[in-house]
Amino acid sequence: MNTHLIKGWMITIIFTFGLFTLAFAQKPNITILATGGTIAGVGQAGSTDTRYTAGKLPIDQLLNAVPDIHKIANIKGEQIAQIGSQAMNDQVWLKLAARINELLSRKDVDGIVVTHGTDTQEETAYFLNLTVKSSKPVVIVGAMRSSTAISADGPKNLYDAVAIAADPKSAGRGVLQAMNDRIYSARDVTKINTTGVEAFQSANFGPLGLIFNGKPAYYHAITRKHTITSDLSTDKLDKLPKVDIVYGYANMTATAIDAFVNSGSKGIIMAGVGNGNLYPEAEEALKRAVAKGVVVVRSSRVFSGRTTTDSEVDDKALGFVASDDLNPQKARVLLQLVLLKTTNRDKIQQYFFEY
Ligand code: SIN
Repeated sequence: MNTHLIKGWMITIIFTFGLFTLAFAQKPNITILATGGTIAGVGQAGSTDTRYTAGKLPIDQLLNAVPDIHKIANIKGEQIAQIGSQAMNDQVWLKLAARINELLSRKDVDGIVVTHGTDTQEETAYFLNLTVKSSKPVVIVGAMRSSTAISADGPKNLYDAVAIAADPKSAGRGVLQAMNDRIYSARDVTKINTTGVEAFQSANFGPLGLIFNGKPAYYHAITRKHTITSDLSTDKLDKLPKVDIVYGYANMTATAIDAFVNSGSKGIIMAGVGNGNLYPEAEEALKRAVAKGVVVVRSSRVFSGRTTTDSEVDDKALGFVASDDLNPQKARVLLQLVLLKTTNRDKIQQYFFEY
C-alpha cells in the first residue's frame, strides 16, 4: 500500500482522536445522583390520567429523555435511592451528603445534580446546604409531572439543572434548587403548590436567578452561612437526633407535645400561629419540655415573614429559640444538625440567626 496514503490516514485518525479528547476534556464533569420522585415516576404513557408511581425510572433511562444533556457536560449517573420523597429519611440524607463530599473532593468532578421528589425537596436541599463541604455547584431538581405524562416537565428541568451545575457562575452560592426556569437558594425555597408545575417559591426573597436556553443568570447573593462556611457536619454519622414538629391551631391541646417529649424527642419545632405565638396549653407543655432538657424552637405556620424574638413571647425567659425566617420543616433540619454540637439555648439561637 502507498506509504503516503497510510501516513495520511494515521494523521487523520490522530487528529480526530485529539479533537474528540479535547471536546471531552473541555466539558465540565457532572455527576447526577438519583433518589427517585415524580421526575422518575412512571404512569400510563401519554394518558391524561395523572396517576403514577414515583421513583420507578432508573437514572440511565431518565437521561435517555434528554440526549442534548451530553452536549453541555460529561455525565455520570448514580442511583442513591429509588423512593418517593415522602419516604425521605436521615439515612438517605447521610448517604447523599457523604457521597457528594467524596465526589466533590475529586478534581475530575465539577458539579453535582441531585434528582429528588418535590415533597421534601426543600428539606434535603437545606440539609445538603449545611453539610456539603465544597463551593462547587450542587443543584437539586425534580418534576411535578411523571416521566410518562403529557408535557412532562422533568426532561427540561433536568437539562437546566445540569446547565446550572456546569456553569462556573453557580459556584459558591450554596446548594441550589432549580425547577420551572427558576433558581432558588436551598435555604429559602419552599413548596407552595401541591400539583402545579410552578411548585416552588421563596416566600421572603424570591429566586436567586433565572435560566433561559440553558444559561443561568443570577441577580441576588446570599448572606447566611452554608457549605464551606458552615461548621455543621455529618461526617461518619449514622443517625441524627430526633426532632419533631407540632402544628399550632385554635383550641390546641398539649397532647402531641407531651407525646413527643415522652417518646424521646430531643427537640420540638412549634409551628405556632402568627409570629410563632402559642396557645396557652401549648406554652405550658413546651415549658415542661424545656424543663426536661428538650430544645424548643418557635417557628410559624404562616407562609412568609419571620418568627422574631422580642415580641409577644419572651423566648429568653422561657428558654425557647425563635426560628427567624425558617419555616418549621427547615427549622427541624437546622436543629437536628445543631444538636450534634450544642444544647445551649443562646448558642442555638445564634445558629438560627446565622444559618
Ligand atoms: C415525591 O416527592 O417523591 C412525590 C411528588 C413529586 O416528586 O413531585
